[in-house]
Formats: sequence, structure tokens, C-alpha cells
Amino acid sequence: MSSNRSVTLSDDSNGKTWKFPVLAGSTGPDVIDVRKLYGDTGMFTYDPGFTSTGSCESKITYIDGDEGILLHRGYNIAELAERSDFMEVAYLLLNGELPTAEEKADFIHTISRHTMLHEQITTFYRGFRRDAHPMAVCCGVVGALSAFYHDSLDINDPHQRMISAHRLIAKMPTIAAMAYKYSAGQPFMYPQNNLSYAGNFLRMLFGVPAEEYVMNPVIEKAMDRILMLHADHEQNASTSTVRLAGSSGANPFACIAAGIASLWGPSHGGANEAVLNMLQHIGDRKNIGTFLSRVKDKNDHTRLMGFGHRVYKNYDPRATVMRKTCHEVLASLGIKDDPLLDLAMEMEQIALKDEYFVSKKLYPNVDFYSGIIFRAIGIPVSMFTVLFAVARTTGWIAQWREMIEDPQSKIGRPRQLYTGQTERPYVPIHARK
Ligand code: CMC
Repeated sequence: MSSNRSVTLSDDSNGKTWKFPVLAGSTGPDVIDVRKLYGDTGMFTYDPGFTSTGSCESKITYIDGDEGILLHRGYNIAELAERSDFMEVAYLLLNGELPTAEEKADFIHTISRHTMLHEQITTFYRGFRRDAHPMAVCCGVVGALSAFYHDSLDINDPHQRMISAHRLIAKMPTIAAMAYKYSAGQPFMYPQNNLSYAGNFLRMLFGVPAEEYVMNPVIEKAMDRILMLHADHEQNASTSTVRLAGSSGANPFACIAAGIASLWGPSHGGANEAVLNMLQHIGDRKNIGTFLSRVKDKNDHTRLMGFGHRVYKNYDPRATVMRKTCHEVLASLGIKDDPLLDLAMEMEQIALKDEYFVSKKLYPNVDFYSGIIFRAIGIPVSMFTVLFAVARTTGWIAQWREMIEDPQSKIGRPRQLYTGQTERPYVPIHARK
């Protein structure tokens, strides 16, 4: 961690200088340790959007944005997507190593024993409007889990932390599928524990009690891969939200509910829903030019959804896998010509050659193709971000545990550059203008 390097800060107004240590990770940019900056200089750093700020030390996920590389515990996402499965990746994120065959069997057994929800939770669903957005429902229900699992709320007990992690990973598909079933007016489907994680989720989404659910193995595999691709992504907005909420000692269910709320926004996980809405709005390839002119117009706030990333200044490696999976799913479902996929591919080709996107290094991100797969599988648009939340819960809870177990972690408390009124006397109401 510590290197022999330091950097010197000098104040041009008075010639004072201060030295700050430089810390080196195992790979990636070094960081300047500014923990003593305020104490030494009386100044804060200013970095809205945290574009240059490392908020924690982590061993879970590494991204090289220039090269388009994503590693989980050192394993490349492309290799994991090809050779691994979601349960292994969940174990890897939580425990640091890929499981042995025995560890994997134990882990799957444990997760499958936690898939059911307390029966009383169904009454929560019935309190929501049927047309509620499923992200709103999931946010509420996940937060409410802390009212049901008092036996695992002691964050200082490693065993209870692990049980909470298992519960969250196991119950998220059930919670998400129930949100969908409620909106469709169909009966809730109980989990079936002999199915794979992805298979059980699909059955809870699309099965009905009146019929046997027939699994399409290509869709099951695609769902598993989509879950893997979304499992974790370093210190993004929702993960940072989970860590910040957890830094005060809040329970893990409350923290994950906070993560779901942050994920919902269209700049983050909500982008997969926004991409599909955008493609439907464009409607036809003849409208691409007009749409892209709006995107490039500084006075218009339209964005090409599914393009661009804070960290990737190259193709998002998850998008590469997603694009391939998209073609596999459409082929397996016998969808030869999907107008939205054609539109998406044409837009991608135009944007990748367009000076505006090239100069700003805007490439497709994970959300550009995921919506087309979801739509082909029959998942309604409003559920897209919920699927992201199901997968990301694994990363969130792994990052939350790492934070709690880090002896250096403190309550998150950023400061500010205050530009408001300075102190002034109270004005009585009759004297106000
Ligand atoms: N369409 C058009 N212009 C864009 C886009 C886009 N999708 N993304 C960035 N830009 C422009 C932006 O206008 C700005 O131009 P200028 O320098 O002239 O002001 C420049 O590129 C830099 O953009 P920024 O907003 O400062 O970059 P950021 O790092 O703050 O934003 C982002 C990253 C992902 C929010 C943004 O690229 C975006 O809004 N993309 C569309 C939404 C999206 O697809 N989000 C999913 C992200 S991946 C999944 C996830 O992490 O949840």
C-alpha cells in the first residue's frame, strides 16, 4: 500500500509547502493520501461527482477504463461470463476466491434455503398500487426486511453479517418476481429450490400455478450471464450509496434499499429502461439522424442512452458479452428480424464513427443491449432495472461487508465549499420584504 513517494502541495500566496504520501495499489493509478490535508492546511479538496477521489480501499473489483478491462478478484469478466456462473461469481465476490466443488454445493444449498420470504411480507405488496413502478416496490420491501430479520441485524457479528448477505442474495429474485406478479395481477409463485438461481427466477416471473413451467435452457443461461455481468462494478453511485449508508452502522437491509434507490436513476441502472424507451421513441432508422442531432445539440438535454461511462473510455467489456448474448437469445427464440435490435446496431455503428462520440470517447455500455434481451425474453420494460438490482445486490453486500470489516473505515462525512449567506441577524416577519 504505502510507497516511498510523496507529493508536495504549495500555496502560491504564502509559499508554504506540505508533503502528502502517495499510496500504491496492486494495479491502477496511485492515490494521494489527503487524510491529513484539513488538519495540516485548513483546506478541503473539492471534487463534485468524485471524479478524482478514491473513497475506500477495496480488493473486490478492478476496472481499467482506458483498456476496457473489468476484473472481479482478479478474474476477467469475459472469462467469468464464458466459463463460470452467477453462484460462483457471488461466492467469489463475497469470499475472495472461486469455490471448490464442495464449497459451491454448500453455497448453493445455503442460498436455496433462504429463498422464501416471511409470509407476512405478502401484505406489503397488497398495500401498493398495481401500477406502482416495481423499483419503488422493491425499495420498500427490501427496506422492510429489517423489520422481519431481527436475528441478523447485529453488524458487529461476522456470522450475522454473512446470514444477512445470504438472505439478501437469496430473496432478491423472490422479491423482484413478486413485484412483477403483483403488477400483472397474477398469483405469487413460491421459489423452487431444485432449480438454478436464474432458472428459479425465470419460473417465479413467468410460471403460473396452473401449469408446469417449461424452461428454455438458452434463456436460463442468458439470464445467468446477465446476472454475472451486473454483479459488481467497483465504487459506482449505488455501491457508494450502500457504503455511505452502512458507514453509520445502519443494518444491511436498509443499506441495500438505499442502493436500490440510487440505482434507479437513468444515469445509472435506470439506463436499460431508458434505452428501450429511446429506441421505441426513435422508431425507425430514418429518424436516427434527427435524434443524433438533438443529442449533439448543447441546448438540448437529450442523451444517447446506453452510451458513455464515467470510467470506461473504451468499449465496456460487459457490452461486448451482452451484444453476443443478445444475438444468441434472439436466434434461440427464432426472432430473425428484431426492428429494435436492427435500430440499436445501426445507431451503434453510426455513433462509433461520429466525431462527437469519438472525441468524447463515448462507447456502448452494459445497458445498450441488455434491454433488447429482456424484451425478447418477455420482461416488461419497467422490470429492467429491477433485474439489475437483483444481480447487483451481490456486489453491494460484498462491498458492505468489506467496509464493515475494514479497520480504517469511518462514518462517511464529506465537507463542502460553502457559498451561501454568511451570518446575519434574524429579521422579524413584519420587517421582511
Ligand atoms: N450522449 C451524449 N453525450 C454524452 C453522453 C451520452 N450518452 N454521455 C456523455 N456525454 C457527453 C456530455 O454531454 C459531456 O459533453 P461536454 O464535455 O461537451 O459537456 C461529455 O460527454 C462528458 O459527459 P459527463 O456527463 O460529464 O460524463 P459523466 O462521467 O459524468 O457521465 C454517464 C457518465 C454514464 C452518466 C453519461 O455518459 C450518460 O449520461 N450516459 C447515458 C446514460 C447511461 O447509459 N448510463 C448507464 C451507465 S453504465 C451502467 C451503470 O453504471 O449503471
